[in-house]
This record gives sequence, structure tokens and C-alpha cells, in this order.
Amino acid sequence: MSGTEDIVAGERSEHVSETTGGVVGGGRPITRETRTRKRMMVFAGTTHPALAEEIAQHLGINLSGTKISRFASGEIYVRSIESARGADAFVIQTHADPINESIMEQLLMIDALKRASAKRITAVIPYYGYSRQDHKALAREPISAKLVADLLTVAGADRVISVDLHSGQIQGFFDFPVDHLTGLPLLAEHLSKRFPDPSDLVVVAPDAGRVKTAERLGKELRADLAFIYKRRSKHEAHKIEQVLVVGEVDGRRCVLIDDMIDTGGTVVEGAKALAAAGASEIFAACTHPVLSGKAVQRIAESPIRELVVTNTLPLPGEKRAVLGDRLTVLSIAPIVASALDAVFQDESVSEIFHGDNQA
Ligand code: R5P
Repeated sequence: MSGTEDIVAGERSEHVSETTGGVVGGGRPITRETRTRKRMMVFAGTTHPALAEEIAQHLGINLSGTKISRFASGEIYVRSIESARGADAFVIQTHADPINESIMEQLLMIDALKRASAKRITAVIPYYGYSRQDHKALAREPISAKLVADLLTVAGADRVISVDLHSGQIQGFFDFPVDHLTGLPLLAEHLSKRFPDPSDLVVVAPDAGRVKTAERLGKELRADLAFIYKRRSKHEAHKIEQVLVVGEVDGRRCVLIDDMIDTGGTVVEGAKALAAAGASEIFAACTHPVLSGKAVQRIAESPIRELVVTNTLPLPGEKRAVLGDRLTVLSIAPIVASALDAVFQDESVSEIFHGDNQA
């Protein structure tokens, strides 16, 4: 029962107890009933205020006020300015650089809201940090993506909304619902306008892990499929001996698709292999523009003609400037806002994607 609901008290209950035969205790009702009213509150951490603001705008509300500051020691302080008692609270925080700070800030916000008696807390994580560390590749490694899930759970999250998780199994790291959104329809819509004639178009997976994603995009664009195969050394761990293009790309326009671009190494290497295999033009697209360090410079100097990304992560002006009009940033805000609305209204999230949103 929420503290914000109207209590209908002092009236005889319509639900009569069968065991007592109805009214007991001097005419007092045996139940209290409420007319349930839900209250959505959207909170945002400090990593990507522009995206949070845009999501709130789509929902037609303001972000709830949160005080976020640092102690002299570097510890984070958070406090919700308004009461969150009984609220359906959504805490938006994309795990951007500095990533550990981003995660800690979100954990503290969730903890504060739990202790402030929010009724339900949904962690909204456009880009889920540590998602690539979702299994042990070598002995004595952590499964960091699982640890992030455990931290969110212990902090008090009841639900997670995230976009294009690096791998589907991350959903299973939580024992509560995870709503998985995808930026692929957004990228597909843009690319299909950009390439109305798909006859010489090839969607390329830059590694074996993205073949399914490339297949989906290829279907949307009515384009052919190719993928980059990296032959690894039998003698030296991690050493790539040869990069091979599997598929027909000679004289054709190629779109490399990935879930994220971090250092740029994967797409740039892929683009070079495609150029060597005779591709006429090379484009790249991804949901999460991590673009660490010199990634944008690396892409600018590569055969990649254009890069299309979403804004699940903030992209500073200096980085945008390096790519200039070779960069297109599409907003994920309408999709995230629709998911928040659906969760709030207890409606289907997968219907937003016509059922095609599983990782
Ligand atoms: C790998 O499995 C991912 O899907 C990306 O291809 C990779 O993380 C991109 O990283 P980078 O840009 O540093 O090559």
C-alpha cells in the first residue's frame, strides 16, 4: 500500500469476511481499501544529462531533483530533493567514462531511493558497463558484468532497462526483469534512407560475435551479408595472424555493424580488410560510441567514410569535431522513453520492437 494513495476509510467494506459473517468490532469495517494511484519519478545521474533531459521531455515530465556532490575525500554524496515515498522511480545513468564513478553514483542513488521508500526502482542503463566481461576467458579472471548486476541488485534495483547488451546472457545475471532495448531499428531507419537502393549493399559483421546483429540489419536493409574472420595464431595467445573477409564485397558498398566502438581497432581493421578486398565505399554503425582515447582520430584516418551511432553515451564536441560531417548521432531517447512509459503503465516493452529486441 502506497503512502500517496487515497485511503477510503470509515466506510463499510464491500468485501465481507465469510468466516466472521461481515462487520466486527463495533461496526468498523474489516478491511481498508485504497484507490491505487501510480507516481512516476525520473532521476538522473551526472554522466549524460542531455540524454536524461531528452527522455524526460518525451515523457512530458521534469527530472526529479537530486543533489549530487563530492566530499573532499572524493566520496560521492547523493540525496533526492523531493520525497520518493511510494514512487515508481527510474534512475537513468549510462555507464560512461569515468565508468566506475558512473556506476557508484547510480548505486548510491538507488540505495537512497530504496531507503526513501520508493515503491519500485528501475535502473535505466543505456550503456551497461563491464558488459564485455561476461564470462571467464582465462583462469583467475572475474565475471565483472555479473558483479555489476549483483551490485545493482544489492543496492535495491527491482528492474533494469538497458540497450543492446553486449551479450544476451547478461539478462540472466539478474533475478528480476530486464527490459532489453535495441538501437538497431534506429540505425536501420537511417541507413535505409541513406541507401534506398540496396542492390550493391553488404552488411558486414566485424567479428564472429556480431553475425546475428549483422543478419538482423541486413534483413532490415535488404542487403547481403559478409563477415570478417580473424585467424589467430596457434602459438601466441591473442595474436591475430590474418584478417579474412568472408562474402562478396568487391565493388560493393559495405556497412560494418557493431554493438560498440571503443578504441576503434575492430572497425578500422575491418574497414582496411574490406578496402583491400575491393569494397567501393565503407561505412560503420554502432549503438554505443565508447570512442575512447584516439578512436575518432583512428576512424578519421581510416577508409571509413561515415560513422552512424546513437547517443547512449555522451560524445564531447572535440570528438565530434574530428569526424565533422562524417559522423551522424541518432537519438535513442524516444525508444528509452517509450520503454519507461510501457514499464510504468504495465504494458509490453517488446511490442515497441515488434518482438525483435532480444540480445
Ligand atoms: C567485441 O566483442 C565488441 O563487439 C566490439 O567489437 C569491441 O569491443 C570494439 O572494441 P574496439 O573498438 O576497441 O575494437
